[in-house]
Amino acid sequence: MVANRVFVTREVAREAIELLRREFEVDVWPDEGPPPYPVLVERARGCVGLLTNVTDRVDAALMDATPGLKVIANNGVGYDNIDVAAASQRGIAVGNTPGILTRTTADLAFALILASARRIAELDREVRAGRWRLWHPLAYLGSDVHGKTLGVVGLGQIGMEVARRALGFDMRVLYSDTSAREDAERRYGLEQAPDLPALLRGSDFVSLHVPLTPQTRHLIGAAELAMMKPAAFLVNTSRGPVVDQRALYHALRDRVIAGAALDVMDPEPIPPDDPLLALPNVTITPHVGSGTYETRMKMATMAAENIIAAVMGKPMPACVNAGAIGRR
Ligand code: DGY
Repeated sequence: MVANRVFVTREVAREAIELLRREFEVDVWPDEGPPPYPVLVERARGCVGLLTNVTDRVDAALMDATPGLKVIANNGVGYDNIDVAAASQRGIAVGNTPGILTRTTADLAFALILASARRIAELDREVRAGRWRLWHPLAYLGSDVHGKTLGVVGLGQIGMEVARRALGFDMRVLYSDTSAREDAERRYGLEQAPDLPALLRGSDFVSLHVPLTPQTRHLIGAAELAMMKPAAFLVNTSRGPVVDQRALYHALRDRVIAGAALDVMDPEPIPPDDPLLALPNVTITPHVGSGTYETRMKMATMAAENIIAAVMGKPMPACVNAGAIGRR
């Protein structure tokens, strides 16, 4: 067994692998799909570090099978795929990649706001299917984005960047968060909604930016969708299970809301026979919020730096359980 081995669960940017190879023996999973769980456990055995992705379940059993493990570095800001409490109990550091993907993800969220309002994917399908035969004053109409109200659920870094983009479109921005953000209110004129129902009732576009936790699972269900305006759109670039997808299907089919744009699904990938795919008023992208060449390279590099720092006993660029395991 090699003492300093790192397992990387998917091919990531070459720069990141090269960084790791300077310090460790690096095993990179070569397949397009993620390693099946038993294979992940097997390949992790004997490793000091794991560079994982949102598609990998990293649980207590895996950690117990990998006694020398010092660090799990997720290639993403979200880390709901990792049992952080179990890692903390075992003194294993968990890293993520905050900050560097914020604006890239906000760009996609805003693209989805525009795409849903102006039916971009739906109308592209119309044109390709040869159904664009004439110009008509009342054909293919969408909704304005400028001048409307955006409701941001979760005013973290990404939510804040989406709000800032909305200001460029002369939108009013409501937000809901666990605490008031007086800085953002003063600087950008954002308004805190008294609660989530008030935000849902008052917004023309609702954009979700909360992490997936037991509290946020199905945060948006049938009752919440019914609170939204019939002309409103839901945009989700956070995690699929934040929305009750079955309830969303019914709300879109019955026009309880006008439309939705989703970058994240439950499950992922969406099965090809999912009824959502038959609806015209939903736009779906394949979990690419952070998916630009530049940002994915920075993310993988930060994940590699998290591993190197943790193994060398140095401060990690981003450690989510630093307090619990007594690291800086
Ligand atoms: C993130 O950064 O959390 C993205 O969803 C990719 O995992």
